[in-house]
Amino acid sequence: MPNPEPVQIAPAEGKLGELVPGMGAVTTTFIAGLEAIKRGLGKPIGSLTQLATIRLGKRTEGRSPAIRDFVPLAGIEDLEIACWDIFEDNAYEAAQKAGVLDLTLLAQLREPLSAIRPMQAVFDQNFVKRLSGPNTKASGSKMDHAEMLMDDIRKFQQKSGVSRMIMIWCGSTEVFHVAAPVHATLQDFECGLTKSDPEISPSQIYAYAALKLGIPYANGAPHMTTDMPALLELARNNHVPVSGKDYKSGQTFMKTLVAPGLKSRMLGLNGWFSTNILGNRDGEVLDDPGSFRSKEVTKSSALEHILQGQLYPDLYRDFYHKVRIEYYPPRGDAKEGWDNIDIFGWLGYPMQIKINFLCRDSILAAPLMLDLVLFMDLAQRAGMRGIQEWLSFYFKGPMHAAEVYPEHDIFIQLMKLKNTLRWMRGEDLITHLGLEYYD
Ligand SMILES: NC(=O)c1ccc[n+]([C@@H]2O[C@H](COP(=O)([O-])OP(=O)(O)OC[C@H]3O[C@@H](n4cnc5c(N)ncnc54)[C@H](O)[C@@H]3O)[C@@H](O)[C@H]2O)c1
Repeated sequence: MPNPEPVQIAPAEGKLGELVPGMGAVTTTFIAGLEAIKRGLGKPIGSLTQLATIRLGKRTEGRSPAIRDFVPLAGIEDLEIACWDIFEDNAYEAAQKAGVLDLTLLAQLREPLSAIRPMQAVFDQNFVKRLSGPNTKASGSKMDHAEMLMDDIRKFQQKSGVSRMIMIWCGSTEVFHVAAPVHATLQDFECGLTKSDPEISPSQIYAYAALKLGIPYANGAPHMTTDMPALLELARNNHVPVSGKDYKSGQTFMKTLVAPGLKSRMLGLNGWFSTNILGNRDGEVLDDPGSFRSKEVTKSSALEHILQGQLYPDLYRDFYHKVRIEYYPPRGDAKEGWDNIDIFGWLGYPMQIKINFLCRDSILAAPLMLDLVLFMDLAQRAGMRGIQEWLSFYFKGPMHAAEVYPEHDIFIQLMKLKNTLRWMRGEDLITHLGLEYYD
């Protein structure tokens, strides 16, 4: 059914400001990538907004425009970036240290990258135990810090002349926390900011500053940020989209490809053991049990929700699922993921699948960051607010309404994303029924 009233989408006029807490491996790979693409030194591989098409109408119609021609998106050349980090390195130095991209490529991008210097961060070592750095804001209450961030944002807007902004967290993974009383309502939260409540994390201070100024917030890391009633209340009140959490880039991407396939053929699962070795700063932070716990939670939930053991007790009720991440410095950003999958078939006969994914974490994450920035901006211009479930495609632990389970199956997520775009433009949603071809 087409949406009888296509959504009014404001045009993508002017520049789009991208505010990024955390200028480490993913962010610098992203920024350098944009500069390389603008100069024709590389292509935006992995990005739906830049490369994918969307089928419209019946298969006989032959209409498959590029997504970026179908919905009004900001262009790569319209992006202006501002970052915060606890280290003072500019984006060129940070990219060199991250060790993801070739030094010869970086040398060609030295000028634009050196111009991006991180603003002073809001940081609290109670939330990221393995890091400390000099580039942090002066002491003050958590509310003072929120005000300072809002000041940074206003100054950036004035200086850069951007017409719209979005914030995307690409900082380190904070330790695992659940909602506390201070997160119950916006009023409780604001009172907690003034009193510097220890349950309020730095990422929540950034998110508060963004949402307060009407700026969409996306969370690329696994910890809880806007998954709290107080910040969702602020997002709804100010008509701002939020999305998260944890980029679905490597092993979980593989998991959400394979698990729907096994389930589609009603093959059973006895166990799934996933382990990773990685040696970048993210790996070092995740070596702390509190930060690892945040990651473990987002990495673990996908299988249960895809396989639905409650509906298929013979196949998926009792499978054993274990996820490990080992910090191993020699590998740097070149992560290696192993999955051992014990499955069973006809009459319960066992079989095994082994997946060895030699990936590059930040190379996989950078295009997700680009798509999220452009789609969150689209959502804002289309008047969408609160949780953007249609962007689940990009996340390991998708945010979702309290009354529904999160959708982890990547094929359903992609269908949902594309149907949302069709719905925005008043096109028929695609159901794949297709009986009309055989009338
Ligand atoms: N690389 C991937 O494929 C991938 C996938 C999913 C999620 N993530 C998540 O994305 C985040 C970034 O990953 P990365 O590989 O770039 O990590 P990284 O360690 O290279 O970069 C994170 C940066 O954040 C900074 N930082 C920490 N706390 C901060 C604060 N309060 N304010 C401002 N800056 C702060 C650190 O100094 C560091 O430079 C991590 O949380 C990671 O778990 C990455």
